[in-house]
Amino acid sequence: YVIGIDLGTSAVKALLVDRNGTVAAEASRSYPLFHEHSGWSEQRPDDWVDATIEALRELASASGIDAGAIEGISFSGQMHGLVLLDGEGNPVRNAILWNDTRTTEQCREIERTLGETLLRVTRNPALEGFTLPKILWVRRHEPEAFAKAKLFLLPKDYLRYRLTGELHMDYSDAAGTLLLDVAGKKWSGEVLEAFGLQADFCPPLVESHGLVGTLLPAVAESTGLPASVKVFAGGADNACGAIGSGILSEGLTLCSIGTSGVILSYENDKTKDFAGKVHFFNHGKEDAFYVMGVTLAAGYSLSWFKKTFAPGESFDQLLEGVGDVKPGAGGLLFTPYLVGERTPHADSVIRASFIGVDGAHERKHFARAVMEGITFSLNESVDMFRRAGKTVDTIISIGGGAQNPVWLQMQADIFGATVVALENEQGPGLGAAMLAAYGAGWFDSLESCADKFVKHADSYKPQPEAVATYEGIFKVYQQVYEQTRGLNE
Ligand code: XUL
Repeated sequence: YVIGIDLGTSAVKALLVDRNGTVAAEASRSYPLFHEHSGWSEQRPDDWVDATIEALRELASASGIDAGAIEGISFSGQMHGLVLLDGEGNPVRNAILWNDTRTTEQCREIERTLGETLLRVTRNPALEGFTLPKILWVRRHEPEAFAKAKLFLLPKDYLRYRLTGELHMDYSDAAGTLLLDVAGKKWSGEVLEAFGLQADFCPPLVESHGLVGTLLPAVAESTGLPASVKVFAGGADNACGAIGSGILSEGLTLCSIGTSGVILSYENDKTKDFAGKVHFFNHGKEDAFYVMGVTLAAGYSLSWFKKTFAPGESFDQLLEGVGDVKPGAGGLLFTPYLVGERTPHADSVIRASFIGVDGAHERKHFARAVMEGITFSLNESVDMFRRAGKTVDTIISIGGGAQNPVWLQMQADIFGATVVALENEQGPGLGAAMLAAYGAGWFDSLESCADKFVKHADSYKPQPEAVATYEGIFKVYQQVYEQTRGLNE
């Protein structure tokens, strides 16, 4: 067996996976989020460790499982979160998470200080969620805590450190810090120097499938796992989600619709320029990359709609009848900017809209329009990938958006690509398990691991008539953003 640990924002989930890629057992534990002020989002790093140890103990003692047969562990982690360690390896304060937005001023400072270096070296714009702005915030607002900080880590790297005693960071997660030379795969001396940070403030870099050590004896004892279990570095949750969905070659794209939505496409060419409009990160596969666009309110838009207009109903009840409404929702159009938008607008102020309401519209038209609007927003990312010269012809769909056949067909029609659902989809935890399986030598590549572990279910081909309808509506959709800016100011 191998174990894939997915260290998420609300919970940690551990999967025990056998040599066929079948999940033999799983365990999950949640931990609190702290929002001390509006826009702040923090967690206690030791809560991650305690929750993971409990989840591992549950896996090791699952019935019918021989814990002695567990060979490897790896990780998928929530990205960008800042953990600052003192000289003894203890956190100097709580972790500041990816969804914390207190750092707008630091983002402007990064843009001013780095100028063109920012995109050339880090390949990404300065966004509030990323790690460097958080480091600068702590230095500015909590100088005493910062004076104690000797090194920074990301969430899953802290967890791994506490399980093994070893300090590392993998490239896929380091890419979200704004301190990495993404194409050169090294910490950027240029960026570190610009902010007066020392090179030893950053941990050593490793590949995601790289072996970093074994479990500390105390951890082996408290979890019931053998101390000989090999621990592999792991990767960013988006990279692991891509691995767990088999996004390991050019032409393959992932659509993940959870609370937020992600469109992520494999990229071989480290020089390809997306002008900072989408995220450009190192993959968890060696020397590969991916580009990614984010819709902030994807599944969240549909839950908002359900909560507001169909309280007490299930999603199945809400979506009953949406398949009877033709593509285009009878002229009703929704933009999903309930909490602002990340890609392509990076605008936290814009808000959502319904346009084209007809007296004959029923609730099912609104529900369909919400699904179409979310998918149009994701199509903005697909559209940008294509305009930058990428081929997007096969899209693996995961998350809540892949639970409904009408939505899967809608994705095929709006994206103009074949959309494939997965059997027993497991998300980033499976990608983490695959990194351990590859690292442990079960396979000679991640691709051959994916051939065995990632199982395709139904696929959906774009229907020419619906594609043409949606192409027309998408042009209107794209104008709504400009036309509705300022409405809520
Ligand atoms: C990616 C991002 C999120 C987190 C969630 O840029 O901020 O997807 O990785 O865990």
